[in-house]
Amino acid sequence: MQKPVGIFDSGVGGTSIWKEIRKKMPYEDTIYLADSKNAPYGAKPSEEILQLSIKNVELLLEKNCKIIVVACNTATTNAIEYLRKTYEVPFIGIEPAIKPAALHTQTKKVGVLATKGTLSSSLFHSTSKMYAEGITVMEQEGKGLVELIEQGKQASDEVRKLLIQYLAPMLEVGIDCLVLGCTHYPYLIPMLTEILPKNVHIIDSGEAVARQTHAVLEKLQLLTKSETLGTSKFFSNSNIEVLKNLVGNQTEVAKLDF
Ligand code: SIN
Repeated sequence: MQKPVGIFDSGVGGTSIWKEIRKKMPYEDTIYLADSKNAPYGAKPSEEILQLSIKNVELLLEKNCKIIVVACNTATTNAIEYLRKTYEVPFIGIEPAIKPAALHTQTKKVGVLATKGTLSSSLFHSTSKMYAEGITVMEQEGKGLVELIEQGKQASDEVRKLLIQYLAPMLEVGIDCLVLGCTHYPYLIPMLTEILPKNVHIIDSGEAVARQTHAVLEKLQLLTKSETLGTSKFFSNSNIEVLKNLVGNQTEVAKLDF
């Protein structure tokens, strides 16, 4: 099955998921859409996030994708139910990793850093309710972080200041797990590691999403039979330099108006 795996995000953050997919399934072809022109999705109304998600899905279907990874927590929590009901292609979504955090925490206090769109969604609330019974979940909107990462400023003082401000209340109550509830945030791990005390475990969903994508492809017998390295194509509708820096020069990165 030589059709590509389609991946989209509000911008460059979903490349953290693409990297895990590439590691797990190096022979698969991938197509990635970065809707950076419309980033961030996080503070947009739910209906707008849905319409943007539909636009991205239609383009990936035009490009013949066999599965679509919604590599954006905000788009997943606001649109995946509709997408699954509407299209025949399988969808993989990204949900904040509340369950592994709930299983790992000793202090019974976990922090979740995510966008407003994710934190206010019903999917986030039902996941928290289901997996985090008896656990204090400290939610924090990562206001401004996605914009800075979209500008390639993940190692800047501006990001450091925001992180210190956002993490302070969580550290005060004694969290020992921090869930990264946005696919842009794994690019903050080097700085988070500097800021957080050693006992705070950082949890992101990338590896689990790659495993789940593989499992679904296997179950549907859609895994490639190829034994040569798959191609990776990236399309962005805004400044492509940040995307190029994150995915490396060996990949094809092009500007596309969508
Ligand atoms: C955003 O576009 O605001 C963030 C994307 C995400 O939630 O993963």
